[in-house]
Amino acid sequence: MLGLWMLFFDAPEHTRLRKLMNKGFSPAVAEALRPQVEAIVERMLEPLRQKSEADVLQEIAYPLPVRVIAEMLGVPETLHEHFIQWSDALAIMMGNPRRTLEQTRLAQEAVLALTAFFRAAVAERRRQKGSDLISLLLDIEEDGDVLTEEELYAQCVMLLFGGHETTRNLIGNGIYTLLRHPVEMAELRESPEIIRTAVEELLRYESPVQYTGRTAKEDMEVCGVALHQGQQILFMLGAANRDPQQFKEPDQLNLKRLNNPHLAFGAGAHFCIGNQLARLEGQTAILKMVQQFPRMRLASPRLEWAANFGFRGLKTLPVVL
Ligand code: HEM
Repeated sequence: MLGLWMLFFDAPEHTRLRKLMNKGFSPAVAEALRPQVEAIVERMLEPLRQKSEADVLQEIAYPLPVRVIAEMLGVPETLHEHFIQWSDALAIMMGNPRRTLEQTRLAQEAVLALTAFFRAAVAERRRQKGSDLISLLLDIEEDGDVLTEEELYAQCVMLLFGGHETTRNLIGNGIYTLLRHPVEMAELRESPEIIRTAVEELLRYESPVQYTGRTAKEDMEVCGVALHQGQQILFMLGAANRDPQQFKEPDQLNLKRLNNPHLAFGAGAHFCIGNQLARLEGQTAILKMVQQFPRMRLASPRLEWAANFGFRGLKTLPVVL
């Protein structure tokens, strides 16, 4: 199943799948979702107004991305909790080279459960189309080219996973970074119009995805380093995003940074298909939290990062509201 994810394909198979899937992720599709995302965030913030403390990850950053992508895929709310757990199991398997056999088994069970869910969902959509992403993917037909059933299930699982672990860390790392930079947080509260450049800077400063990997198809030389065919390469996005040759004062958080060609969403053919959606969720959640909880501060000075080399995110983010 994972072998069918377009993320792991080269051209021409990748090009074909990507072209088909792009339609479900155009900037217009993301923009049309804005009111829905804003309403979901408002609903999530409502119960926090009665509380004096909360865990930002548990209350907002975990459930928001999964709720948005689950709504796009037409997944019923009763299953959202399961989706979070399945996505977690996959993230541990994919992002942690020191995973245990037990963790790998849990990821396998998650893939099987998700595939079974999407198999049933696709069958239902074939009977009755809706306005969700699965129906759209079923509809997409270009140059007589369609996704096969197995490809369709695989891309649904990939979207759920791709949109969950990463975006939650954008929100969690973003709020955490702002809480550690009170001057910049006040600047954002006073000038909410800088939210777009602010989210780009937070993506650069505490990148949710720390590396991507590739395999050399042939012997080659990159920046004076010899690579041999079959050799595995890690591209350290988090490090590139602090490269002093690319960014002026790279360790400085500058929410108004204009020239910000960060690599948080990767680059090239596999550039993140969900970048517009992630930006929308990040901008909405971060701005609303900053505006609605002006006294928010860290409840503990020492926080623990999750033991995952690929996805940078905290285990918990307790705050005083
Ligand atoms: C802050 C949030 C996000 C970050 C930092 C992020 C990061 C990335 C990165 C670095 C890549 C490139 C991987 C590579 O080159 O090996 C990628 C690809 C991808 N992302 Fe995201 N992503 C985010 C949100 C999302 C969302 C919301 C979705 C979908 C709903 C998504 C779906 C995908 C998919 C399907 C690919 C593979 C694209 C392809 O192979 O053509 N991502 N993402």
